[in-house]
Amino acid sequence: CGIIGRVGDGNALEPLLTGLENLEYRGYDSAGIAVQNGTGIDVQKRSGKVDELKRSIGDTPIEGEVGIGHTRWSTHGPPTDENAHPHTDETKDVAVVHNGIIENYADLKSELAEYGHTFTSDTDTEVIPHLIQYYLDDGLDNEAAFRRAIDDLEGSYAVTAMLSGEHVLYAARQGSPLVVGIEDGEYFLASDVPAFLEYTDSVVYLEDGDVVIVDDEGATFSDLAGNPVTRESETVEWDPEQAGKGEYDHFMLKEIHEQPTALAQALEGRIDPENARISLGDFEPGTFEDVSSVQFVACGTSYHAALYGSLTLKQAGIQSDALLANEYSVSAPPIDEETLVVAVTQSGETADTLNALRHAAAEGATTVTVTNVVGSTAARAADEALFIRAGPEIGVAATKTFSSQAVMLTLLGQRIVEDQFGEPAVDFETFLPELATMPSALDDILVRSDAEAIANRYEDSQSYFFIGRGLGFPVALEGALKFKEITYEHAEGFASGELKHGPLALVTPETPVFAVFTGEEDEKTLKNASEAQTRGAPLVAVCPEGHRAVDVADAHLEIPETVPDLAGLLANVQLQLVSYYAADALDRPIDKPRNLAKSVTVE
Ligand code: G6P
Repeated sequence: CGIIGRVGDGNALEPLLTGLENLEYRGYDSAGIAVQNGTGIDVQKRSGKVDELKRSIGDTPIEGEVGIGHTRWSTHGPPTDENAHPHTDETKDVAVVHNGIIENYADLKSELAEYGHTFTSDTDTEVIPHLIQYYLDDGLDNEAAFRRAIDDLEGSYAVTAMLSGEHVLYAARQGSPLVVGIEDGEYFLASDVPAFLEYTDSVVYLEDGDVVIVDDEGATFSDLAGNPVTRESETVEWDPEQAGKGEYDHFMLKEIHEQPTALAQALEGRIDPENARISLGDFEPGTFEDVSSVQFVACGTSYHAALYGSLTLKQAGIQSDALLANEYSVSAPPIDEETLVVAVTQSGETADTLNALRHAAAEGATTVTVTNVVGSTAARAADEALFIRAGPEIGVAATKTFSSQAVMLTLLGQRIVEDQFGEPAVDFETFLPELATMPSALDDILVRSDAEAIANRYEDSQSYFFIGRGLGFPVALEGALKFKEITYEHAEGFASGELKHGPLALVTPETPVFAVFTGEEDEKTLKNASEAQTRGAPLVAVCPEGHRAVDVADAHLEIPETVPDLAGLLANVQLQLVSYYAADALDRPIDKPRNLAKSVTVE
């Protein structure tokens, strides 16, 4: 879910709606805003995307200088008008937007019901304005009532509240992100920086346990008990242009095309091909000398990047695993102080990944976060953070951040291997120059890809299979995930050798098989792919020109020649394009696939 709040002169409507549009990637099944209209609080909310909210507001314009807004990804209750935020108390004196989960909401709700409060939604959030109202009725002033209400909540939240009759917003953070944007005479509260980038690049990141009160004079930070805390403002480097769609039809296509730049940014100053050296800022040589095993924790696309990173280490002889963060609490391998746990998370806000990270830290592991978002919760919760510098990613389906994560994990892996064995796993004299040419290799693919034609050719298929071996395996998984996320067609990724152990039963002429060739036992992969082809499946080989698979396959997506550690990343870009064009042909809402959200801040 995404939160926006604004205090300043002039109508808050535009900055609020802009903020909601910029936050839609965090959820988009309902949206709403509330403003102080001079006499009270005016709420407009409905199920559907922000566009629909805008249309309905167009008919009944609302005005006010202070306001809050929310775009929702349902957790409690379906996406109906009633369940959309902001929520209010019965008198409409208090309006609240919330992100996270209030675990004790059922108890709070029944207690409040005993005092005569009636509820109109299925949400956990609705108890908050009622609680505030309860304490107001009890004689507390606005600020005290807000603090008492927050103190009653258990669970995770970012909450922003507005009370009738004053130019003030109250906000609190516990486990869900919240940032303050500061401009002369205008102040913002939001779940994430892109919400207000058009207005200011000066931000303050709240910490868990913080309360911030924003009025016309500025933002005041304190803990829940009211003790002042100091929070410094930072200038963010993303510009709003970067966060816009530019000439592209979709953010996803734009972000696919940004990969050469994103990788160049990721590598900037970190590799020195001439002297065969890498330098990772705080991760000086020797940092990982005492590490005995490495566990990567992540979800979704980041999990596939984690698998990639983990495989590089395994292949180099280091004990390592990639683990689904949401399974970690029930199945984490043993952890001690020699365990390094690497959380891989684009947003740095995924609740599952944060929980795994915290569990690992509590067990004594050394923790590192690999993320795109400076100031994110994961970046701050880990001992160290390594930033992938991919720039804002808005499309829900992760693309450029996968490539940048995989490359950064490869570099991090090489540092770990060097620290353990005194030398890197690959010959830096050939590997680093190859890495340095990745941006131009990606450019090459983007200019010449046949992905659109191939997507069209197999458009009426029943199911899409992706296979790969070694480092090609996570790429196959990622290819299938991307495909299903945005086309809504059935797609599955398999280790090449696994196809014959079951999935082959599904193979027909209606199941194209995309085979990724990375130069690791390619003959075996080709044999596995041919077994599907013999049974009628069209075979699409993703490999360099001149590869033996080209002669065997029905179609070919070309990647430039490179070392096995990088070939899969090039192949992945071809598969991203196939998914994109397949989804486009089906007219899917590519940037906002149904039921998904970019950043899932609930378990
Ligand atoms: C959500 C998104 C996925 C993403 C996953 C992990 O489920 O829809 O695209 O891969 O979260 O996100 P993270 O920010 O932790 O990388």
